[in-house]
Amino acid sequence: MDPTTNLPTHMTMQSDLDALKSEAPSRVAAAASLDELADVEAEVVGKRSPIAEGRRGLGALPEDERGEAGRAINEGATELGALIAERRRLLEAAAHRAALAGDAVDVTLPGRAPNRGSTHIIQQVMDEVVDIFVAMGYTVATGPEAETEFYNFTALNFPYAHPTRLESDTLYLDYGDTPEEILLRTHTSPMQARYMEENEPPVYLVVPGRVYRADPLDPTHSPVFHQIEGLAVDTDITFGDLKGALEHFAIEFLGTDARVKFIPHYFPFTEPSAEMHVWHGDGWMELIGCGMVHPAVFEAVGYDPDEVTGFAFGMGADRLAMARHGITDMRHLFDPDIRNLEQHQ
Ligand code: DAH
Repeated sequence: MDPTTNLPTHMTMQSDLDALKSEAPSRVAAAASLDELADVEAEVVGKRSPIAEGRRGLGALPEDERGEAGRAINEGATELGALIAERRRLLEAAAHRAALAGDAVDVTLPGRAPNRGSTHIIQQVMDEVVDIFVAMGYTVATGPEAETEFYNFTALNFPYAHPTRLESDTLYLDYGDTPEEILLRTHTSPMQARYMEENEPPVYLVVPGRVYRADPLDPTHSPVFHQIEGLAVDTDITFGDLKGALEHFAIEFLGTDARVKFIPHYFPFTEPSAEMHVWHGDGWMELIGCGMVHPAVFEAVGYDPDEVTGFAFGMGADRLAMARHGITDMRHLFDPDIRNLEQHQ
């Protein structure tokens, strides 16, 4: 300022500019971030900077000094602007590098293995049993778990007074007024009747499914368990065919050294009836209920017992899974604890 005119003089302008040019480079260089640099830029070349003030003061200078003063200001502004631009370029590059480094994937770290599920051991048994029969040409069908008393018992030649029809053995559903009692099927055998009603012979059928009984859960019982039903009906099926098919199954499922025996038994829907037992190292285990389809069952479904014969069989999948995995308490099969499930895969 000229103390007499209170206006900037060429001399004061030049010295302000010189001061700015000597101190600004270190301030620009010290700006550690793009934000800090923006602040420095405002102070050095912004609206209230000595540069801007100098420009505003040019008009007050004597005419012969204006040109030189203006050039000096512009030169200073250009120099400082270039310094700031260079610093900005460096800071931007550093920020970009930091962002890339933050995103980097270290391909040398060990991967995180995904948690793989597996089918339940009961399902595995059912799938394997079904596959063995499918390989022999059998078809697969499934049926309703809520079943009528007719298909579950009557069509299968259960007498009306048969004790398993009682509520102490069978879980009945309350569907109000229905022509038939509705129950939770106690076995997969009702699908024999349902399938034959809908299909002409020959029949080669397996039926995997869930079944229910009025048993409390304990080490050897469960109110829900699983069966695989089988049915073969043709013009001249014999008990020899039954033995051949089930022995073949045992060898496929248990291995070539599997030993089986058939002992007489009773089921209302087969005559004669048998149980197939298998040797499993320390004793015989009952594996399959079976027999020749009773003529009364053929009649119930509209087949002519003089035209066709057949065999049927049923086995429990839960017991097979327990034997295979050395499980002695049935409740472990239905325990949803993941640690328990992971033990047996
Ligand atoms: N349904 C019988 C049960 O649950 C098992 C069974 C036995 C099925 C003999 C059959 C068979 O098809 O022929 O105990």
